[in-house]
Amino acid sequence: MIICVCRRVSDRDIEHHARQGCTSLDELQMETGLGTCCGRCTDCATEVLARSQRTVMCHLHVEGKEMALT
Ligand code: FES
Repeated sequence: MIICVCRRVSDRDIEHHARQGCTSLDELQMETGLGTCCGRCTDCATEVLARSQRTVMCHLHVEGKEMALT
């Protein structure tokens, strides 16, 4: 699903960046350009990023690693 229409950034793009260690909307904006045009997508993008980070944390726990995303 497209989250940012202006920059064509999808929820899968956001999940990918979360897996790569992106932890904030600012980082996401730097990586993708998301939210830098009309800005209407930032609330939704923040929610998707938070959900993606929780998913990454769950995977790390399942793998028994003691890493934390900060
Ligand atoms: S929809 Fe993301 S900047 Fe316009």
